[in-house]
Amino acid sequence: MKLELTEEQQMIQALAREFAEKEVQPVAGRLDQEARFPHETVKRMGELGFLGIAVPEAYGGAGADPVAYVLALEEIAKVCASHAVIMSVNNSLYCDPVLKYGTEDQRRKFLTPFASGQKIGCFALTEPQAGSDASNQHTLAVPDGSRYVLNGRKAFVTNGREAAAALVVAQTDAAKGRHGISAFLVEKGTPGFLVPKVEDKLGIRASDTAEFVFEDCRVPAENRLGSEGMGFKIAMSSLDGGRIGIAAQALGIAAGAFERSVAYAKERKAFGVPIGQHQMVQWMLADMATAIDAARLLVWRAATLKGAGQPFGVEASMAKLFASEMAMKVTTDAIQVHGGYGYIKEFQVERYFRDAKITQIYEGTSQIQKLVIARHLLGTQ
Ligand code: CAA
Repeated sequence: MKLELTEEQQMIQALAREFAEKEVQPVAGRLDQEARFPHETVKRMGELGFLGIAVPEAYGGAGADPVAYVLALEEIAKVCASHAVIMSVNNSLYCDPVLKYGTEDQRRKFLTPFASGQKIGCFALTEPQAGSDASNQHTLAVPDGSRYVLNGRKAFVTNGREAAAALVVAQTDAAKGRHGISAFLVEKGTPGFLVPKVEDKLGIRASDTAEFVFEDCRVPAENRLGSEGMGFKIAMSSLDGGRIGIAAQALGIAAGAFERSVAYAKERKAFGVPIGQHQMVQWMLADMATAIDAARLLVWRAATLKGAGQPFGVEASMAKLFASEMAMKVTTDAIQVHGGYGYIKEFQVERYFRDAKITQIYEGTSQIQKLVIARHLLGTQ
């Protein structure tokens, strides 16, 4: 694996850093406090090519590679984890599967406007009883002539309120279990597609997390993504890519909290010297920097494999597991370095700490990542 970034990757990284620092940083704290979706800056992410970063230009994307994608995500998450998850879900869990499994017509309608940032998409797999046990789907899609009739409930859908379309997973043949699950592209505004609730959350508060209800929602058969029964594989393979995105998000959260900690350790004095001159603070900073670099290497490896068209699912799980656990530890220590000031909102590290927690949970908990890795090691996958 090459550790040297290409000119294009460096350019995208620099563009993302500049955007995050100049346009997102001034609003990030307030958006978090007000739990407000960042329409203006999400529009800018679209204009800059970040919402379809690895989608070919022919379908409205930036035509970059997965390494450029994680570089941009890290820079954005360093400043605001909410912007990062909005970007990650649109890229990995919506655009990627439409590109990979969609027909030409589906790509034109359901990919181009989403990769170019005119619209955003979302991914509706989770149900109240189907989180880690994702194949325990109760949402039904019953064929009815040229349509399917959807009935059921989806939970914790990132981008759910704002999205113009959703990739929805549902049972088309309950008797076949996992092999009777299919995927659909469902437009907002379709009668019977309801968004009754938007969650009030601990972190990533500027992103919206919604509940969906489908009540006799009629979806044209041409909106089925892939063939009948392929839905679980589509969902699982999309999550492989999504987990690289969340690993990059966790990496950025940690790196952002770390940079603030180093700056604070140089300024804040205790016992007559800057606290960075005390060994106990130095040790914390050294551990943080080492863990962040280790996570970055795992993220880059998974992204490199994906870009090379090689299997990357286990490496994605390792990257997400390590990066999210690391982000929780680093953001906890970042508060410790800041002492009492770390606990108050003005210094912002408490936002990083709250944002880090979800990375251990969504797109597969840390326990699920361990299960995926162990099954691979033992050949039971
Ligand atoms: N790619 C392609 N196919 C895959 C696959 C992958 N990564 N993983 C599994 N499959 C296939 C298997 O090959 C198998 O196919 P066959 O039956 O034909 O052999 C089939 O899927 C079933 O696989 P398993 O037996 O492994 O299925 P399982 O029920 O034991 O579940 C699991 C495995 C790993 C626990 C899975 O359910 C899982 O990943 N759970 C976590 C779900 C998750 O990450 N949810 C996050 C939702 S999105 C979100 O967080 C919200 C958001 O908006 C950000």
